[in-house]
Amino acid sequence: MSYYKIKSLIEKFPQVNLVSGSETPIDFLENLSRELGTEIYVKRDDLTGVAIGGNKVRKLEFLLGDALSKGCDTIITTGAIHSNHALETAGAAKKLGLDVVLVLRGEETATPKGNYLLDKLVGADIRIVNVSTGKETIPIMEKIAQELEINGKKPYIIPTGGATPIGTLGYIKCVLEIVKQEKELGVSFDYIVHATSSGGTQAGLALGFHLIKPTTEVLGIGVGDPRTEVIESVWELINSTAKLLKIEHSLTKEYLENHTIPGYGFGGYGKITKEVVDTIKYVGSLEGLILDPIYTGKAMYGTVDLLKKNIIPKGSTILFIHTGGMTSIFQYDDIIRKFL
Ligand SMILES: Cc1ncc(COP(=O)(O)O)c(C=O)c1O
Repeated sequence: MSYYKIKSLIEKFPQVNLVSGSETPIDFLENLSRELGTEIYVKRDDLTGVAIGGNKVRKLEFLLGDALSKGCDTIITTGAIHSNHALETAGAAKKLGLDVVLVLRGEETATPKGNYLLDKLVGADIRIVNVSTGKETIPIMEKIAQELEINGKKPYIIPTGGATPIGTLGYIKCVLEIVKQEKELGVSFDYIVHATSSGGTQAGLALGFHLIKPTTEVLGIGVGDPRTEVIESVWELINSTAKLLKIEHSLTKEYLENHTIPGYGFGGYGKITKEVVDTIKYVGSLEGLILDPIYTGKAMYGTVDLLKKNIIPKGSTILFIHTGGMTSIFQYDDIIRKFL
């Protein structure tokens, strides 16, 4: 399907402009490329411009566009207490003059830090709930929505990670941006590598490249969530997003099974080990680029390892998506210091 066809399909959906300068830069990582014997570039989606930046801003361009088009005035979303998604949603909603309620899983603390501290600084209405899974927050958000409606407000609920077909449009739009930047830079990426968790980033990138430039392979590096759940979530999002766009696709679940890479979760989601901290130090000391310990540090470890094992062949041109999350260094500073 042509670039322009996808562009015109995407443009039909309500959206707001949140990404600073409307696109993020792609930088060549010269020192890392020399060390690894391949060409590696980084897409600076950590610089998307709202609060601490990151991949969620792209999803929010469409989710908040949808909320505004429906006349909603209050955004409700959820995540763990240090959720990047929750902070980004709060910052973006505030920027657009909307109220925001964050339902955060965890425990109240006398010394808030990291993103929880930033949630307070952007003035979010925070409800801490003592539940352990994202699923358990759904009825809690629905109850808050009902209460708001009784008080004459019009709420809009965004699920964990913004993982909906509308949110996924953000990363299909990002594929259009990358393909345009490839032409400007005179490069063609063989591989796109990124961290995957709730699935919208992977679904948008995989579907977008499949439709626009199928020779580029999209590798989602699992960061410790159960792999089958990630694959199910990405597969569901690909199909529901294609349906939303009213298009056919020939991506297969087998493609996802081969392109959702296990082995780099280091003991589970949120677990930080010496290997992850060493990777952050390695890239930081070569490039002055700061990765985070929950997502991008693990995804970069995976990228380097896949190159070492020749699963990504040496000499390939790789685009690593920096999906943000840097503040979690300050959330987990005690653990990180142990491995310095
Ligand atoms: C920094 C960062 N990178 C990657 C991801 C994973 O993105 P997705 O939830 O779209 O799979 C997240 C999700 O929270 C994130 O915060």
